[in-house]
Amino acid sequence: MKEPILQARDLHKTFGDVKAVQGISFQIARGEIYSLLGPNGAGKTTTISMLTGLIRPTRGDALIGGYSITRDVQRVKEIIGVVPQEIALYPSLTARENLRFWGKMYGLSGKKLGEQVTAALELAGLQNRADDKVQNFSGGMKRRLNIAVGLLHEPQILFMDEPTVGIDPQSRRRILDTVKMLNEQGMTVLYTTHYMEEAEELSHRIGIIDHGRLIAEGTLAELTQLVGQMETMRLSVEAGTKDLTEVMAILHQIPELHNIFSENGHLIIQAQDANAALPVVISQLGQTRVAIKSLSIQEPDLEAVFLHLTGRALRD
Ligand SMILES: Nc1ncnc2c1ncn2[C@@H]1O[C@H](COP(=O)(O)OP(=O)(O)OP(=O)(O)O)[C@@H](O)[C@H]1O
Ligand SMILES: [Mg+2]
Repeated sequence: MKEPILQARDLHKTFGDVKAVQGISFQIARGEIYSLLGPNGAGKTTTISMLTGLIRPTRGDALIGGYSITRDVQRVKEIIGVVPQEIALYPSLTARENLRFWGKMYGLSGKKLGEQVTAALELAGLQNRADDKVQNFSGGMKRRLNIAVGLLHEPQILFMDEPTVGIDPQSRRRILDTVKMLNEQGMTVLYTTHYMEEAEELSHRIGIIDHGRLIAEGTLAELTQLVGQMETMRLSVEAGTKDLTEVMAILHQIPELHNIFSENGHLIIQAQDANAALPVVISQLGQTRVAIKSLSIQEPDLEAVFLHLTGRALRD
């Protein structure tokens, strides 16, 4: 890899009995967008909190720009920008006042502070709302401002923890485009998400995190190759009085099927050879009076990779 800006080595974090992070190691090259993709509770925020000096690892260490997160926290904080999962803004202050406050916290003052605040308002697309109180902003506007705060002191690497959760599609689009634009200008980004589409769209490399461990890592192409020849099919059924669990029990009797899951009322099945498995599925379901409403074969994506690796669906 090109010169790594971040090297995490065997990070662990235990909260009482909870092993939130259990030995995470990875590297990020300068100029990369690296995504940590994983479900709720996987350990994404805990990992970011350790890397950004908010909490101390129980074990392990990381170097960012050559500085240790356990021994040189202050140096690390100078070169990183953080966009936390929980929005860190003062509701009773305006957008501009929030930016000025955080800018001063980062040690900016005078002309530089003014320039950075103007640039941040522009980046967030909030020039026209600069003097409105944050409490009157939509969720998407707050998120955009939160991101701009993380960039005020011109960091070398930006940590973004699920920055698009719970916002409207337009703000989401704007945030994803902002990440790409920043990256094109040279920013390194560590991005966490449980949306596989975002990880697919943004990342140069992706680490899949589950139960506090990185279970796979690579480019999208490398990760989808892990699924190998396995084909994924999605079907929705009309099962009359039967529920999905009963339909799944029927499918479990079909030896051609490798994995069977339900997701949002759909069934996801994986097989070595969809062409061989589908006639059996159709005939078995027909015999038990389960009608198929729709059926599609999917290209391998990160969802399929996660299913393949964990036996569970990524979405809850
Ligand atoms: N301060 C804490 N005290 C106790 N347990 C914690 C603490 N912080 C996190 N945990 C636990 O550690 C595990 C990992 O949590 P973490 O917040 O890192 O997950 P996450 O991947 O960020 O999830 P989400 O997608 O919901 O944000 C969870 O089981 C969580 O309950
Ligand atoms: Mg989190």
